[in-house]
Amino acid sequence: MSVHKEVRKVTTHRLSEMKLRGEKIAMLTSYDYSMAQLVDEAGVDVILVGDSASNVMAGNETTLPITLDHMIYHGRSVVKAVSRALVVVDLPFGTYQGNSREALHSAIRIMKETAADAVKLEGGEEVLESVNRILSAGIPVMGHLGLMPQSIHKFGTYTVRAKEEEEAEKLINDANLLEEARCFGIVLEKIPASLGQRVAEKLKIPVIGIGAGNKVDGQVLVIHDMLGITQQFSPRFLRRYHNLAAEIKGAVGNYIRDVKSLDFPNEKEQY
Ligand code: KIV
Repeated sequence: MSVHKEVRKVTTHRLSEMKLRGEKIAMLTSYDYSMAQLVDEAGVDVILVGDSASNVMAGNETTLPITLDHMIYHGRSVVKAVSRALVVVDLPFGTYQGNSREALHSAIRIMKETAADAVKLEGGEEVLESVNRILSAGIPVMGHLGLMPQSIHKFGTYTVRAKEEEEAEKLINDANLLEEARCFGIVLEKIPASLGQRVAEKLKIPVIGIGAGNKVDGQVLVIHDMLGITQQFSPRFLRRYHNLAAEIKGAVGNYIRDVKSLDFPNEKEQY
């Protein structure tokens, strides 16, 4: 008899079953092997290798500079660590919007070179041709509507989206189009909670919110934000579960003190 516990991998099918029985989906980002291993072992359902790596890993102001090669590097590192969660990798800005053949090529590179389970991209009607082409190759696609950080220069601000009826109607229409195309889920970012609820009730596929209220089918946060590694970023939707910045600085401060005072290494810590 094997002593190893059988791990049942989360699939897109299992996510829709969770929605059907009303079980909320917990999703978090990860960008590297060590963090992804901890997040997976803690039991998160979906790990997003988000293009927020551009901000939290590379220190860029926006998500626009990150490249397909960078995303593949992060995706591959995460996939190696994960045994249970569904791993979704973001298609970065400029790799899917203009041309559906390029979109397919980008998605195929992600699937082949990272062994991830799915890709995510931002937009509705404007990117539908790309969505269809990627799906036709058998690659699961997750949509992303509401605040779309790759369009920050069009929006001009990171404030709440779709507060006005016209933008809300477009969002609902886009969500329907993504479901009809057979995306397996949608992320809704920073929209009124009532709109999040409307979309989640209308769609059969899981709707995961980040600042979209608690009536959607699951939640996603950036791991650096929820662990309190990032310090300046404090939107209303963010709940910090830890103050890791203070803990890390405290531990590093203690190390510096011990090195300078010749306390480290001691007799037992050398050969
Ligand atoms: O890139 C990312 O981390 C995301 C989440 C904010 C949903 O897209």
